[in-house]
Amino acid sequence: MPGTRRIDTQVGIVGGGPAGLMLSHLLATAGIDSVVVDNRTHETIRTTHRAGILEHGSVSMLVDSRASDRVLTAGHKHEGIDLRFGGESHRIDFTDLVGEAVWLYPQNEVFTDLADARSRDGGDVRFGVSDTSVSDLTGSPRISFTDADGVTTEVRAHILVGADGSQGITKWAIPQDHRTDHFTAYPYAWFGILCEAPPSAEELIYAHSEHGFALISQRDERIQRMYFQCSPDEDASAWSEDRIWAELQKRVDGPDGFKLRQGRIFDKTVLKFRSYVCEPLRYGNLFLAGDAGHTVPPTGAKGLNLAFADVRVLFEGIESWASNGSRDLLDRYSERALDRVWRAQHFSYWMTSMLHSRSDATSFDHKRQLGELSSVVTSRHGSAYLAEAYTGWPNR
Ligand code: DHB
Repeated sequence: MPGTRRIDTQVGIVGGGPAGLMLSHLLATAGIDSVVVDNRTHETIRTTHRAGILEHGSVSMLVDSRASDRVLTAGHKHEGIDLRFGGESHRIDFTDLVGEAVWLYPQNEVFTDLADARSRDGGDVRFGVSDTSVSDLTGSPRISFTDADGVTTEVRAHILVGADGSQGITKWAIPQDHRTDHFTAYPYAWFGILCEAPPSAEELIYAHSEHGFALISQRDERIQRMYFQCSPDEDASAWSEDRIWAELQKRVDGPDGFKLRQGRIFDKTVLKFRSYVCEPLRYGNLFLAGDAGHTVPPTGAKGLNLAFADVRVLFEGIESWASNGSRDLLDRYSERALDRVWRAQHFSYWMTSMLHSRSDATSFDHKRQLGELSSVVTSRHGSAYLAEAYTGWPNR
């Protein structure tokens, strides 16, 4: 096409969020070149609030690959969580149960670290592109787009990676008769806030109550992140600060007199829930990674961690192909990645259904949930399952 700028690369990556950037970074460490495109601007991705918990394996990927070790200084290591129900807190001690921990380090920071690492190392990452489409997926795949400077551009690659999130275009490029869409909806959503206040607790609190679920998380000494279960069609702007604090406090009230430390609320959002898996995560030379191929509900913070786990497995496949021409590992990518994806789907579904209340819940449903929570906290085996899944299963 006249007037089209053409770029040849080994790996074309659609999506410049943490998954796409981490893959591009790992590929660069192995001498494999890639081009990353994203229709969002750097600023939009950097300022979109997402979850804040990294499994130890995700931390290792950032640190060991020399992307950044800022997580170790700016992040906070958490060796457990509180499950709060019946107005009482029950600590799940990850270190004691499984010898692992997680790090509180928001996804925005992970994005910033990876974007900085890519620009430090001269990576080709293009934010703010438009009209993106992909083609020739079973041959030499192409990404066509209008670059931020207005030039029509085409990237030709050997391998194409769809890391463009749950709203992305790449998975829809897989013909319908070559994929199965596994999907479930939930009658819940989260009302998320960011506020200026000191931390209310040292660790995260996942609270079950007769008024619904609440999650007390943190960001740093001055900023806190909290969520409470709400209806999926809730209008965030209809909630005053006083009403939000009253709702959150009600869900953590108990005989121990626990009180949330309140402060100015400067961000309010309603997060919708769904579970989705595209199977397989591959079509020809297109491979899906992260939210582009699967979405989990937020309870348990598995989204980014699963994306990194996909990237680790995909990187092994691409590296093996680039170094010795073998496609064996690439051919096994979908099966290997989906093994973990389905375990995480189950874990996120389980945490969600154990902790949230349905609007049509009976006293039986409520008491049964308390029985379930009690089984988890009074059994070392029950707690250890939670601890192992939360901190991240070992790689297989
Ligand atoms: C956070 C979000 C989660 O979904 C979760 O399970 C834990 C923490 C957070 O944003 O801090």
